[in-house]
Amino acid sequence: EEIMKGRFEHFMLKEIYEQPESVQQTMRGRIHKLSNGQYEVQLGGIRDRFYDILRSNRMIFVACGTSYHACLACRQIIEELTELPVSVELASDFLDRRCPIFRSDVCIFVSQSGETAETLEALRYAKSHNALTVGVVNVVGSSIARLTDCGVHINAGCEIGVASTKVYTSQIVVLIMIALQLSADSRSKLQRREEIFQALISLPSKIETTLQLDSQMKKIAHSLESRSSILLFGRGYQYATCLEAALKIKEVSYMHTEGIHAGELKHGPLALVDQDMPVILFVTRDSTARKVQNALQQVIARGGFRSMIVVCTEKDEETKRLKSEVELVQVPETVDCLQNLLNIIPFQLLSYHLAVQRGHNVDQPRNLAKSVTVE
Ligand code: G6P
Repeated sequence: EEIMKGRFEHFMLKEIYEQPESVQQTMRGRIHKLSNGQYEVQLGGIRDRFYDILRSNRMIFVACGTSYHACLACRQIIEELTELPVSVELASDFLDRRCPIFRSDVCIFVSQSGETAETLEALRYAKSHNALTVGVVNVVGSSIARLTDCGVHINAGCEIGVASTKVYTSQIVVLIMIALQLSADSRSKLQRREEIFQALISLPSKIETTLQLDSQMKKIAHSLESRSSILLFGRGYQYATCLEAALKIKEVSYMHTEGIHAGELKHGPLALVDQDMPVILFVTRDSTARKVQNALQQVIARGGFRSMIVVCTEKDEETKRLKSEVELVQVPETVDCLQNLLNIIPFQLLSYHLAVQRGHNVDQPRNLAKSVTVE
C-alpha cells in the first residue's frame, strides 16, 4: 500500500494530483485532428448506436453520489449541443417513482464502479421498458458495463479513495465528448465545438496550474477547521460544483456543508447568512455572470463578506477588486462548460486538508463504502 501511494500520504491526495494524467488518459486516442484542421471525437463504444441515440426523444442520465453530480455538471452542454431534452435522475428516486420510460428513450448510466445497486436496478428497469441503454463506467467488465447495450469507459485508472476525485473530472470529460460526438454533423455548432476541443486539449496543463492552489486551500482549511457549517452558492455550470464540493467536505471532514443554487438564495438560505457563516461563492463570467453578481451583493449586504471565499477566474479583473475584503481563490480560465471541472479541484484539496486537520481517516471515512452494492 505504501508503494502504491508513492510520495503521497493518502490515496485521496494522490488521486487529486493524478488529474492532469487521468483526464489525458480519458481523452487518449479519442480526439483526432482532421486534415481540414477541425477536430472530431471517436468513441468506439457508441459508434454503432450513434444514430439511435441521436434520433431518440430524450436522454435520461441516471446515477448516484458524485457520478450524479457529473451528470448535472454536463446537462447544459449536452442540451446545447444535441438539442435533445436531457433529464438527470438520482437512481434511487428514478426507481421510487417508477419513472415512465419508452423505447424511444436513451438511458445513460454513469458509475465509477459499475456495481452501485440502485444504478444497476435502474438499468434493469430501463431495459425492461426497451429503452436503449448506455453505460459510462470506470471499472471494465463491471455489471453495468456488461448489461448496457453500448457504452464508453471512463479510463481514469483505478480509484482507491472512497471520496471520488479523479473519476469525477474524467466523467465530465466523457460526457462532454459524447455531446461532441453526437453534434458532429451540426454545421451551426462548428465554432462552439471547436472552442470546446481547444479547451479539452489545454485541460491537463490548466489542471496542473490549478493544483498550485494547494497551499492556499490548506490555509483556508485551517481557518474553517472548527466551524460548524459551510454554505456554497453557485448557479449555471457551477451549481454542480457547489453540490460536489459540499459532498466532498461532508464525506471526509464530517462537517455540515450545503451546496445551494444561487437563484434560491432569497427563497430561504439567505436567512442563514450573517457575519459568522462561512460562505463560498462561485463567480462566473458566463451567461449567469450578472445574476451571480446579485448573489454576491446580497451576501455582502448581510455582512457575509467577513467569512467569505469567492472563487473566480484569473482573468476576472472585476471580481479581483474584492481582494482586500474577501478570500479570493483564482482558478485558470477555460470554456464555460469545463470551468466546473477546474473549479472543483481547489475544493477537493480543501476537503482533504479539512479531514487531515480534523484527524479523520481520509481514505476510508466512517460509515461509507467505495461501492454500495446493496439497496
Ligand atoms: C458511493 C461512493 C461515492 C460514489 C457513489 C456512486 O456512495 O462512496 O463516492 O459517488 O457510491 O458510486 P458509483 O460507483 O456508481 O459511481
